[in-house]
This record gives sequence, structure tokens and C-alpha cells, in this order.
Amino acid sequence: MTYLPKNILVTGGAGFIASHFVHYYQKYYPEIFIVNLDKLTYAGMLNKLQNLCCPEQHHFVQGDILDSDLVLKLLKDFKIDTLVHFAAETHVDRSINTPEKFIKTNILGTFTLLESCRKIWLEELGLGKNDCRFHHISTDEVYGSLRKDEPAFTELTPYRPNSPYSASKASSDYLVRAYYNTYELPVSITNCSNNYGPWQHTEKFIPTIIDCCLRQKPIPIYGDGSNIRDWLYVEDHCSGIDSVIRNGRLGESYNIGGNTELSNLEVINFIFAGLSKIRSINVKYNELISFVKDRPGHDWRYAVNAEKINKELAWQPKETFSSGILKTLIAYQE
Ligand SMILES: NC(=O)c1ccc[n+]([C@@H]2O[C@H](COP(=O)([O-])OP(=O)(O)OC[C@H]3O[C@@H](n4cnc5c(N)ncnc54)[C@H](O)[C@@H]3O)[C@@H](O)[C@H]2O)c1
Repeated sequence: MTYLPKNILVTGGAGFIASHFVHYYQKYYPEIFIVNLDKLTYAGMLNKLQNLCCPEQHHFVQGDILDSDLVLKLLKDFKIDTLVHFAAETHVDRSINTPEKFIKTNILGTFTLLESCRKIWLEELGLGKNDCRFHHISTDEVYGSLRKDEPAFTELTPYRPNSPYSASKASSDYLVRAYYNTYELPVSITNCSNNYGPWQHTEKFIPTIIDCCLRQKPIPIYGDGSNIRDWLYVEDHCSGIDSVIRNGRLGESYNIGGNTELSNLEVINFIFAGLSKIRSINVKYNELISFVKDRPGHDWRYAVNAEKINKELAWQPKETFSSGILKTLIAYQE
């Protein structure tokens, strides 16, 4: 049976992926009311929420997911039936320098949301499993790192997180799973590979490269640039999340990936080629590359097997890496 959300609470909706999700939902489901709870940390920017197609169906609240009184009030006041949880501390480098914030927001924040939903949906309102949904956004980084010859992560791959970021996301996944098994809170989880697209914070890999190219500054590359990631265009991630919310099985995790494994140097070469196509000025981008000391515990390779979502829910990404990166470059240039 397809689940139909009515009033959604999106957390972290001024961040990169969740702001795209808000635009995506407004475009395809203008009848749904969205409450957007975001603390506006350094990573949150309200200008990503300009030009919404149905601004009257969107209500922004600046606040912390750790504030249980606020979360309970929002769930009640707006008759929220669906919570889509993106809010997190997300930058691995920052998790190495300031891990405490990651533990608070990613673990205790997720706990606060789960507990609030349990209290309102199950205890106060007695909602059934088809009347409400808690969807948790997670990452492929919980699975750890792969060698070259190892198969891609499936949903059955054991969790082996290597950074405080991925460990905090793994912990939050376990809490979500526990609320399903212990309290029968209707939950689902998606574990996605690296996203790219417009409006990503400039501290992340692809925006850093683009920014350095546009400003003709040295491009810092960790190690020898051979680390491999699977890349997915951000709107394809949003459509994958939507498929799982509507038709995914309760209590299940679904991997979402682009089937696009690229080394960091290959990504950079795509960016150089794209920029040369869309810019009239002639820059020797190659000469900007500057190799820097690798980050501690840097995972060497991630690869995602997305067969489950593909077979069960007929989900597939629309963009290839070359079409998605071109859209991204045009957006950054603008
Ligand atoms: N970016 C990726 O490639 C990627 C890949 C897979 C999964 N994810 C997951 O997707 C989610 C979103 O990632 P992103 O890259 O868009 O993040 P982001 O860093 O761009 O945005 C995070 C948002 O959460 C908000 N936030 C942080 N702490 C908060 C708190 N305590 N209360 C309320 N709001 C708070 C920030 O203000 C910001 O707007 C995260 O859960 C992340 O783990 C990201």
C-alpha cells in the first residue's frame, strides 16, 4: 500500500540535500504542508529556500532538534504525520576536530526526534503503522572502507564506521532500528553515497574544487587523489528517498547510489572538462592541483549496491555523472 504523507516535518531543511528535498516535494506534491526545522548552523542557509513554488505550503522554524519541547509542539500544532530527518553535523574533517557536536546532534538529536514521535504518534494519538512515518537519512560511510577487489556495500554489509561522523550516523541508524523493533514506530532508513549538485557548502570536495578553479587558487587534494567514491546527483537522492517513504517496507534500510565509482582525480578531470566547455576563458586547471597530507582514518573506497531499491521500488538515478556535473557547474558559475 502506498503511504501518502500529509504534513511533513523536515529537519535540517536549510542544508544542502534537505533544501533540494523541500523544492522537490513542492514541485511534485504541492498539496503537502512542510514544516522545516533547522538550527541554521554554519551549514544552513535560508537563501536555498527562496523561489519555492508553493511558499504558502512551507513554514520555516529556526530551532534545534535537541529541543524536545519544540519538537513535541511542532508535531502537535502542525498535525505532523511524517518526519524526514536530514539534520546532522556532516563534515568528516570537522568530526575529527570537534567530535562532541556530532555525538550531540547526530545521536542525541535523532533520539529526541524518535522519542517525540513515539510519545505523540503512538502514546497520545494511537496512530497505526499506515498513519505515520519516520524516515531517517543516513550514509554509506557507516559501512566503512572497501579494498579495490571487495564487492559494493549491500544492506547486509556489517557496519564498520571509521570516523566520528560515520560512527555517529551508525549509532543513529541503530536507534531508528530499535524504535521499530521495540515500539513498532513505523520507520525506514536510506543509506546514500556521496551527493553533489547546486548549493552544497564550499567545504565539501566538489564545491572546493569548483571554487578553486573559478578563483584560480591551488586545489587541495588529499593523499594521491586515488580515493574512490560513488557519486549521486542530489535530485536523484531526493527521488530515492521519496520512493522509500511512499512504497518502502517498514523497518527496512535501502541503499541509494549512483553506480558511479570515481577516484578523486577522475572527478577533478570531469570538472576541468566541464568548465572548459562552459567558460570562454582559457585556464590550465591541471596546474592548480596541489597534493596535501591525507586526513587520519581516510576511507579509501566506497561503493554502493543499490539493487534492493532498484528491484523493489523500481528506482533509478536520472542523471549520469557528466550530465549532473554540468548542471552543477552551470549553477555554481551563475
Ligand atoms: N552530503 C552527502 O553527500 C550525504 C550523503 C549521504 C547522506 N548524507 C546525510 O544527509 C543529511 C544531510 O546532509 P547534507 O550534506 O545536506 O548536510 P548539510 O551539512 O548541508 O546540512 C545540515 C543541516 O542541518 C542543520 N542542523 C545541524 N544541526 C542541527 C540541529 N542540532 N538542529 C537542527 N538543525 C541542525 C544545519 O543548519 C544544516 O542546515 C545528513 O544526515 C547526512 O548524514 C549526506
